[in-house]
Amino acid sequence: MKGIVLAGGLATRLRPLTWVTNKHLLPIYNKPMIFFPLEVMAKAGIRDVLITTSSDHAGHFINLLKGGEEFGLKLEFAVQENLKGGIADAIALGEEFAKDSDDILVILGDNIFTFNLKVSIDRFEKREKGAVVFGVKMDTGSKQYGVIEVDIDGTVLSIEEKPEQPKSNIAQAGVYMYDRRVFSFIKLLSPSKRGELEVTDLNNMYVKEGTMRCEMLDFWIDAGTSFDELLRANNLVAEKIKKGELL
Ligand code: G1P
Repeated sequence: MKGIVLAGGLATRLRPLTWVTNKHLLPIYNKPMIFFPLEVMAKAGIRDVLITTSSDHAGHFINLLKGGEEFGLKLEFAVQENLKGGIADAIALGEEFAKDSDDILVILGDNIFTFNLKVSIDRFEKREKGAVVFGVKMDTGSKQYGVIEVDIDGTVLSIEEKPEQPKSNIAQAGVYMYDRRVFSFIKLLSPSKRGELEVTDLNNMYVKEGTMRCEMLDFWIDAGTSFDELLRANNLVAEKIKKGELL
């Protein structure tokens, strides 16, 4: 399996922090945000990783990460021209990179979590086709994310993007595994009301087919949604490092 980390976008919700700097280079306690998804990829045994970002910031990522040796990864970089293109548009940049791989793991570069994905990846690689979306149980506020409705056996029944009336308390994290058909599925998508190729629309193609499964993460923060979530990610990571639960 190969990995794609998405580090593009305009990050308007974090301005003025992101007028000049890419969101994924902002600090989470003692390291740049992008280190988290890269460490998750390395821990899961993935070696080949593509980072998609904007032309303005590609050089910063290359300066910081070089070829990825420090993480035990082999990094490649791709530039997303349309910064309002959305998550599915950014995944599409990986088609050539992933052509010799049966499956891909996609992680949004601002998602902070440490769950070891190795077991999930091994299980997924045994499947013939389909996808996995990772979910997180939320006490409140699931409606600011994609919301996943899951059957008792883990099959996803629906995913709704930021619904007024959520059907469950499971938020869709920015962590996905797809079979290689994902690139042909993306070509069938049309832009949503906010003008983006939505990951939720992409995931719902697998849902319709009955091949989308949901697995759960323990702790997860989307550090890119607001200043408060960015601060919460910083505090939580600091606490975990001080307790010795994280390096
Ligand atoms: C995107 C997805 C949403 C998902 C979230 C996770 O939201 O559209 O379904 O729950 O990432 O980070 P956005 O950050 O684009 O609002």
